[in-house]
Amino acid sequence: MARSVPKASAPVPGSSARDPGRHELRDPATEGAAARVDPAAPPSVDHSTEQAFRAVFDMLPDSVVVHTGRHILFANAAALGLFGAPSEAALKSRTIQDLLPPEYHAAADRRTRLILEEGRSVDRAQSQRLKFDGRMIEVETTSAPIVWEGRRAIVAVSRDITARLRAERALELRVADLELAREIHERQSAQLRALAEELRQARDAAETANQNKSEFLANMSHELRTPLNAIMGFSEVIKEQMLGAVGVPQYAEYARDIYTSGAHLLDIINNILDLSKIESGKFELHEGDVSITQVAAAVRRIVSGRAAVAGLVLEVAVPDDLPNVHGDERGIKQILLNLLSNAIKFTPRGGRVRLSGWVNADGSLSLSVTDTGIGIASENFDRILAPFGQVDSPLARDHQGTGLGLPLVKAMIELHGGRFDLDSTLGEGATATIVIPKPRTRPNGQRKTGVLGPR
Ligand SMILES: Nc1ncnc2c1ncn2[C@@H]1O[C@H](COP(=O)(O)OP(=O)(O)OP(=O)(O)O)[C@@H](O)[C@H]1O
Ligand SMILES: [Mg+2]
Repeated sequence: MARSVPKASAPVPGSSARDPGRHELRDPATEGAAARVDPAAPPSVDHSTEQAFRAVFDMLPDSVVVHTGRHILFANAAALGLFGAPSEAALKSRTIQDLLPPEYHAAADRRTRLILEEGRSVDRAQSQRLKFDGRMIEVETTSAPIVWEGRRAIVAVSRDITARLRAERALELRVADLELAREIHERQSAQLRALAEELRQARDAAETANQNKSEFLANMSHELRTPLNAIMGFSEVIKEQMLGAVGVPQYAEYARDIYTSGAHLLDIINNILDLSKIESGKFELHEGDVSITQVAAAVRRIVSGRAAVAGLVLEVAVPDDLPNVHGDERGIKQILLNLLSNAIKFTPRGGRVRLSGWVNADGSLSLSVTDTGIGIASENFDRILAPFGQVDSPLARDHQGTGLGLPLVKAMIELHGGRFDLDSTLGEGATATIVIPKPRTRPNGQRKTGVLGPR
């Protein structure tokens, strides 16, 4: 195939501004080379100048096209790939305009004039090209003037940047996504901070309200106790007929009722007072070494009458050598009384109530009240541990009470750093246990019998 050889020639007028020599395609291999041929050298393959150019240009990864602004004069292998042309001849059969989307025609004409008439170069211009199959690609092209076979032409070096632009656009989208996510995150963080602040204020308000309630209860209980003491004192004088016999016996009976009701009321008031003091952190433990054996004996004396009237067997299994407890004696006694009175209240005639004490393997001390009574369903545990929480059940009959006993037990033992455990099945009795931590136990001076575990 005949192909013209590009020849070195004089610079294009006007191209001197940008180093015109840069664009001249000289073939140094042929210039004066004949004089220097070494006859001893092995015979070299005879490349024609054109073949040499072709070989060099075809090695380039970028598309190189020499054109007049309309007709294509030369195209390397990468150019055929870029446009999807089957051969150089096929590519040359198209005009430059055929390979451009119509909207680029005007701009391409301007560029052609700039290069051909003013000898200027255009560096890395981005535009689009039409491939042979009609697909559009993005290219980056550097164009410069050149003299090609004695005429002014343009050499255009292009590379396909479609994939790069797509990747850049994807990256931009990703960055925008991330930016959006960051904004959303910041907005959510701000909302969370605002919410946390609202919650803090609500908690503060609730704490203040609770504090006020506790103070109110404490004051009210105190105010109620003073007249109640008078009621109880005088009703006792009358019921005991201390200042002389009561004329009508019924009056003495009324006085007894007034006294018992007063005592019951005082009990409730004391419980409310204790609970509200514990809740508001104002309850002060009067601590000392408490002999659990003695406390157990004392509560036994108090409740044994009630157990007998209720037709129950009362057992106390608290060994003499059980360690003493460093704590509030009145509080511990109150705990055991509340648990025992519940056991007695909620156990039908013929049942058993048992108070036992033992030392655990970790050195803590347990006191437990077990009964064979009506029991409590586990779903009601939370309710009965809250103040005034009681269980409505046909089995509970018409037991007296306000629902303050267990909350007080729990609060009091926790004030001692201990724990309250409840174990019960409806209809099968209940076991209420308090655990006093080891650091609160003290030697009680009695000979050890090595009691370990509930008995
Ligand atoms: N040993 C038990 N057997 C069955 N039910 C129990 C037992 N102990 C407590 N309960 C249930 O738990 C509720 C709450 O007990 P709690 O001691 O707090 O109040 P109360 O005994 O009703 O009244 P208060 O003790 O204030 O006089 C009881 O009303 C009862 O329903
Ligand atoms: Mg009770």
